[in-house]
Amino acid sequence: MSILRDKSLATTGNLKIDWVYDHMPICALIEERFKKERPFEGLKITTSIHLEAKTARTALLLAAGGAEVHATGSNPLSTQDDVAAALDSRGVNVYAWYGATEQEYHDHLVAALSCRPDIMIDDGGDLTHILCEERPDLAVNLKGGSEETTTGVLRLKARAASAEGLPFPMVCVNDAMMKYMFDNRYGTGQSVMTAIMASTNLVVASKTFVVAGYGWCGKGVSMRAKGMGARVIVTEVDPVKAVEAVMDGFTVMTMEQASPLGDVFVTVTGCKDVIRMEHIEKMKDGAILCNAGHFDVEVAVAEMRKAALNTYTARNNIERFEFDGGHYVYLLAEGRLVNLAAGDGHPAEIMDISFALQVLCAEYLAKNADKLEKTIQEVPGDIDNWVAEMKLETMGVKIDRLTDEQYRYIHSAN
Ligand SMILES: NC(=O)c1ccc[n+]([C@@H]2O[C@H](COP(=O)([O-])OP(=O)(O)OC[C@H]3O[C@@H](n4cnc5c(N)ncnc54)[C@H](O)[C@@H]3O)[C@@H](O)[C@H]2O)c1
Repeated sequence: MSILRDKSLATTGNLKIDWVYDHMPICALIEERFKKERPFEGLKITTSIHLEAKTARTALLLAAGGAEVHATGSNPLSTQDDVAAALDSRGVNVYAWYGATEQEYHDHLVAALSCRPDIMIDDGGDLTHILCEERPDLAVNLKGGSEETTTGVLRLKARAASAEGLPFPMVCVNDAMMKYMFDNRYGTGQSVMTAIMASTNLVVASKTFVVAGYGWCGKGVSMRAKGMGARVIVTEVDPVKAVEAVMDGFTVMTMEQASPLGDVFVTVTGCKDVIRMEHIEKMKDGAILCNAGHFDVEVAVAEMRKAALNTYTARNNIERFEFDGGHYVYLLAEGRLVNLAAGDGHPAEIMDISFALQVLCAEYLAKNADKLEKTIQEVPGDIDNWVAEMKLETMGVKIDRLTDEQYRYIHSAN
């Protein structure tokens, strides 16, 4: 039985789901096949991904393939209550509500796992943590799972390398080329800018954006901010990425140097305490801070709350922090990933790619898990390539194919 806020919200949630159906054509192709082949017949699948329309569409796709689906969110501020209600109205078990406390969020994850799933789809590693550390009894039927994001993959790799190891195979969907090159770069790039603009209703052109982290997400945010006329400063800890940012035309410096220069700060590192009080003290009055990394630890929010003399909601999703001497800054979405907590997340066409990978990896696990080692697994190359081919086809883009002679030429030793 579902645990959600308000079943009567289903109407708007269903409209949101219908909208994304029309913009996720790769998932539609897979659904056609799944309906015939029913690869998940008799299996239970637990998903923990930001609970909004594209995720709901994915849960329904798994259900169309025969799965009994149990869905929860991966962040208490990204769950959309109307989408949760709509998913429930379409027969999926849902355990989530917007603004869940830490305890409620944890209870929702455990509730979603209580079916003792055969397969799980995780985003950030919280399901994996519960199954490994707290409730191994809920993993008795688990064939394996998959992980959606960079931070979750890092946690998985650390666990796989530890003495205990991983007790089940986990496919790192984030590390597929069709995932990080598009979702992390173009998805985060666009949706972070959308969320900042919608929350603040301020101009981007002429502002100085400071982007912390020049990984796949950071490249996307920097590129889109620059494209809209912002001056962009990048901060990094990896010398290679820092050189790349310089070569891409961005100014690179330390956060300490960037602090007095920025109008808008975006952290997207997967690291903690990237913006601290020592930086905030140097910032301009009215500087805007936000985070797009998976966890709400990149901006030292607790430190900010301790130092603030006064805080209040200045606008929906914007909190004003006032410090000694009248200094003030704004924090978006409580420092949680801004594009989901203050927006609808990535565009549907991007999640069409990412979730096509997810459901195909779930099918791969359903068919092959008993042959897989209980450790990190790569997304099979043929799945990555198939999704790329389908993306081209659905965009109406044709590419050249190697002739036999060309193939021999580039594969010969001489
Ligand atoms: N908001 C979203 O929708 C979304 C989408 C995908 C991934 N993510 C999350 O975003 C984060 C980054 O993902 P990614 O794929 O870009 O990872 P990545 O590993 O490609 O890039 C992270 C970059 O941050 C740099 N970095 C680390 N610590 C730093 C610090 N203290 N200061 C400055 N730079 C630092 C690293 O050197 C690296 O270049 C992760 O937490 C990931 O889970 C968010």
